[in-house]
Amino acid sequence: PFPWYEYMRSNQPVWQEDSGAWHVFRHDDVKRVLSDHESFSSQRGTTDDPSNPISASLISSDPPRHRQLRTLVSQAFTPRAIDDLAGRIEQIAADLLDALPQGDIEIDIVERLTTPLPVIVIAELLGVPSSERARFKEWSDATISGSRQLDAGEELTFSDAQREMVKYFSKMIAGRVEAPKDDLISGLVDAKVDGESLSQIDILGFCILLLVAGNETTTNLLSNALYTLHERPALWDELAEDKGLIPPFIEEVLRFRSPVQHMYRTSKHEVQLSGVTIPAGSHLVAWIGSANRDEKVYEGAEKFQIHRPARNIAFGHGIHYCLGAPLARLEAKIALEALLARYASVQIPSLADCKPVPTRLVYGFQTMPTRLESRR
Ligand code: HEM
Repeated sequence: PFPWYEYMRSNQPVWQEDSGAWHVFRHDDVKRVLSDHESFSSQRGTTDDPSNPISASLISSDPPRHRQLRTLVSQAFTPRAIDDLAGRIEQIAADLLDALPQGDIEIDIVERLTTPLPVIVIAELLGVPSSERARFKEWSDATISGSRQLDAGEELTFSDAQREMVKYFSKMIAGRVEAPKDDLISGLVDAKVDGESLSQIDILGFCILLLVAGNETTTNLLSNALYTLHERPALWDELAEDKGLIPPFIEEVLRFRSPVQHMYRTSKHEVQLSGVTIPAGSHLVAWIGSANRDEKVYEGAEKFQIHRPARNIAFGHGIHYCLGAPLARLEAKIALEALLARYASVQIPSLADCKPVPTRLVYGFQTMPTRLESRR
């Protein structure tokens, strides 16, 4: 998509497609669309429709409801709680890598590491038993892509997935209301601001949101990081020698190959962006992937270069800034450290065998056959 973004930033930075939606490409405009909640709404569909809890969840709500929800969920989902997970994430990454054959190997890294890691982490966070994890992954896939082909040849549709998730989590939440445990859902049940607490539907929406927002995104951050290291073999050794380079490396991967390429908004009133007038009630597509390659903000934007002065906006900007950003960064760092400790190099022997994710929303790979050279 990157040449298209570059063309659009220069020639049609605010462009209306035939269906009516407005696409926004420049960094400043994207940042404004994401953060100016007075002008751009995040609401989608009807709120409080229990059959679609995502439409009523944090990511799809505007102030004042957004502020209230965010304050409440933040009580349970704190940076401290995420830091406390580090040991568990290290163990999960080690288990996944221990399960691989010994020596030099060629595996689909998406299947063996980058997909299961975030799914297991979120499942554990939510207190979901390991026996249910495969089903979990299917629900979150179906919710993102509209439907999901199952191995048996049947299809899991978006609404099947939503229905099953609603049933599953409703039972779990009701269980925690009766008998609290030391976990995230119990924390959400307990959370209170000014005497208000989260309804069961709010909690449900948040649980489903975590699955949908946290799985495929983190998978692709990790896969994109490995792809980037395949392209730059010397960087593997540099990271192995100086672990301090891993976090800025991850930041540059987030900028250069943003897992989430765009976000939607609806204009609440007439607005101007880059001199173009957008009517009230318009649907907007804010291209994060393009904003992160804007030359006006990132010098030599088409070059991968760690230690950049300007921050990326891969996790969004403003009140909806990704709640899971610390978790995604932590998972990526731990997974890379584990790989660097065990393997002397990473290589993707055939690009033709890598399958990109088939949507414009998410940037990454569905399959990535990867050769890993053992250090031992
Ligand atoms: C919001 C990206 C991982 C949970 C967002 C937004 C972006 C984003 C761009 C802003 C949405 C908007 O402005 O409309 C990413 C990327 C990830 C990632 C690139 C991985 C590399 C995660 C994880 C979790 C998570 C691991 C949770 C476990 C959320 C939630 C919101 C959100 C709850 C909504 C926040 C709000 O509306 O206040 N994410 N995300 N994300 N993300 Fe993430």
